[in-house]
Amino acid sequence: MNTQETLCSQEPTFLPLESEDGPLLQAIYDRTPRLEDLFETVGAADAQSTYMALPEGLSFDNKYLVGAWVDGELAGAADVITSYPTPENATCGLLLIDVGQRGKGVGTALLAHVEEVVRQRGARTLTMLVQCRNILGGEFLSRRRYAQVDDNLGRVIPYRKPLI
Ligand SMILES: CC(C)(COP(=O)(O)OP(=O)(O)OC[C@H]1O[C@@H](n2cnc3c(N)ncnc32)[C@H](O)[C@@H]1OP(=O)(O)O)[C@@H](O)C(=O)NCCC(=O)NCCS
Repeated sequence: MNTQETLCSQEPTFLPLESEDGPLLQAIYDRTPRLEDLFETVGAADAQSTYMALPEGLSFDNKYLVGAWVDGELAGAADVITSYPTPENATCGLLLIDVGQRGKGVGTALLAHVEEVVRQRGARTLTMLVQCRNILGGEFLSRRRYAQVDDNLGRVIPYRKPLI
């Protein structure tokens, strides 16, 4: 295999997660050290909760749960809600890459994909919810032009970026 083929084979593709993908998402959670420090507020400790998580008053039309696939394997996932907390904002409570797949650009590509999808659905800003103990996650977002906002969400720090 030449270098070009190697790069192409590692390019992630993005597909909404179906219910039958639940065990794959659960396996990523199970492999993630200190998962409770990353996503305790979204019920991400079990995949079934992630599929069901939805703010009160919104429908599943507002939810986009997407997987990043690399070479046919689920490498990570993101869960974003449009029109929340305002009609022009989208909020992402889960951006997680499998531990063995980190550092290869998948997280950056998945974030860019989510930004584009919610922008097409009418969002003007994207808010990423980060647990205050997740220092590396906050730094990852800061380097991608997300700024902390002072919404009082307890132990969750919102990072927000304009999309247009
Ligand atoms: C943050 C995260 C999504 C990045 O995914 P990724 O596929 O490794 O990201 P990329 O390969 O595109 O870029 C690697 C970047 O992530 C940073 N990073 C943060 N934690 C990391 C980790 N545990 N392993 C590798 N890189 C990590 C690297 O320093 C690097 O930063 P830089 O490119 O700004 O210098 C991933 O590490 C992850 O799932 N972390 C746990 C959950 C989380 O913090 N989510 C984001 C906040 S909601």
